[in-house]
Amino acid sequence: MAKFKRAITYGTFDMFHVGHLELLKRIKNHAEEIVVAVSTDDFNTIKGKKTIIPYAQRAQIVEAIRYVDRVIPEHSWEQKLEDIRKYQIDALIMGDDWEGKFDFLKPYCEVIYLPRTKDISSTELKETLKAISCVNVRELNHALEILTRIKENLE
Ligand code: CTP
Repeated sequence: MAKFKRAITYGTFDMFHVGHLELLKRIKNHAEEIVVAVSTDDFNTIKGKKTIIPYAQRAQIVEAIRYVDRVIPEHSWEQKLEDIRKYQIDALIMGDDWEGKFDFLKPYCEVIYLPRTKDISSTELKETLKAISCVNVRELNHALEILTRIKENLE
């Protein structure tokens, strides 16, 4: 039996991956219902994060996850207390990269940090994509050199 009636979590959830899924699954072991606050594109700009997938699609994907009961937009750092009251939240649960950061909310609900899934993050996926496209640029330049040489030989 889940200990809490309703938990909330916050995040960007860009390029939804297994670390996100595992976190939501583990939150579901603690709570009957999960509210996920997905960071809007404007809020990501404030956080200094650049996403590949726009807010509407990130929210749509998170909403389709069977552990998730409701998705709301995360517009600001300051909205948490209002969300806790509005959605009658018993627990705020985050990955442990946020350890200690939301302890100030302990007077209002339980605050729990769960271990992150190892070796996966949106940042790493983005870096991998960037590396792959750099390789492509090199290959394309090489192909262009070959084609230029062929063209020169024809002239
Ligand atoms: N999370 C997790 N395990 C991972 C990656 C993320 O448990 N391997 C958790 C985070 O701790 C957070 C939630 O998923 O509570 C949403 O995190 P988000 O910042 O969207 O995910 P990251 O992949 O860590 O993104 P970034 O690399 O941009 O920080």
